[in-house]
Amino acid sequence: MSELKPREKLLESKDPKTVPTEDLLAIILGHGTKGKNVFDLTKEVIHFLRENMDKDISVADLVNFEGIGEAKALQIISALEIGKRFYKQKSKMQVRKIGSGRLIVGDCLDVMQTVPDNEIILAFTSPPYHNAINYEDQIKKLDGEIRYWERKEISYEYYKNFLTDRFKELYRIIKPGGHNVVNISPIAWKGKRMALPFHFVSWMESIGWVFKEDIVWEKEIARDRRSGVLMQHPYPGYYYPSLVAEYVFVFQKQGEKENQNNVYYFRSREEKEKNKLDLSDYQGDKSKNIWKIRPVAPQENIHPCPFPLELAKRTIEFYSYKNDTVIDIFAGSGQTNLAAEMLGRKHIGIDTQETYINYAVERIKKWVDHKNNTA
Ligand SMILES: C[S@@+](CC[C@H](N)C(=O)[O-])C[C@H]1O[C@@H](n2cnc3c(N)ncnc32)[C@H](O)[C@@H]1O
Repeated sequence: MSELKPREKLLESKDPKTVPTEDLLAIILGHGTKGKNVFDLTKEVIHFLRENMDKDISVADLVNFEGIGEAKALQIISALEIGKRFYKQKSKMQVRKIGSGRLIVGDCLDVMQTVPDNEIILAFTSPPYHNAINYEDQIKKLDGEIRYWERKEISYEYYKNFLTDRFKELYRIIKPGGHNVVNISPIAWKGKRMALPFHFVSWMESIGWVFKEDIVWEKEIARDRRSGVLMQHPYPGYYYPSLVAEYVFVFQKQGEKENQNNVYYFRSREEKEKNKLDLSDYQGDKSKNIWKIRPVAPQENIHPCPFPLELAKRTIEFYSYKNDTVIDIFAGSGQTNLAAEMLGRKHIGIDTQETYINYAVERIKKWVDHKNNTA
């Protein structure tokens, strides 16, 4: 009988522990193990899984490694964990490369599971207003399929878990010392105004994020007419100010200053000089924790709630260097990605809605083409 190939050996074996580690790695790599040790193969696997997005490997190939021996097990687990995360989600993921970024259609929890630990320097996002906007239906409305969209009814507890699961995963992939900046505001929930930003801070702290700044984004104009109530009933108890502010909270992943991993303290003098900030307009608005920035008008963007490009630009300039990677896990129309591209950063944007991702790619492409044409 001819010798079984590694993949067949695994499938045939009653006890996966008896399959040599080299064979497991070979299954992933799809080639033989001749002359290569486990360490080399593991390195190769990690590299392969990061680079080679289209290779077909089923999760069934990944087995229980208990009893392999500690050192060997650690090596292989680190390789296979990445593979497992990656391949679990691969079939669902649509990746679009544009400029120095990647825009991905999918649930950010799934996509982040494909990213190694401590990989990214900065995250900037604004989470979905879960019950306030039904993004699927907003797109159907854009496409003319429906005339109105309705809110989705979900519990606040569900929403809390939705956010904490995703910001926990984000914590894993951010480098020590790196930041997570979140634009968030109170939301209407079953007739009540929920103090979401304040709850959110404690949810983030329980994950490990360190609270650093509370910036208020002040919009010049109110889209609501709350203050009109007092005009109609000019008595105490009828004061509902129009809402013109949202929060921008800055959180950091702990990173010791002395620690070489810290993303800010061990940059070369040259790199610092190249990234020196232009402070000519700093002493006005930017030096304070109230940023007055015009919101995006509805006709300027197909998304129902984009944040201004300027909000993303300031965040990116204050918290990252050129060529660093910035991620937006709820990317929407890709404002963070467009700003990152303009500022010479690498970027990743994730959104469940293909329409928004396509729109983001289109806008970034326009900017890249324009830049290339004027260079
Ligand atoms: C507040 S909007 C972000 C808008 C974005 N900042 C912009 O400027 O266009 C939140 C986005 O999260 C997306 N979203 C909802 N659930 C998601 C999930 N599980 N993973 C990734 N994106 C999701 C929605 O489709 C929506 O576009």
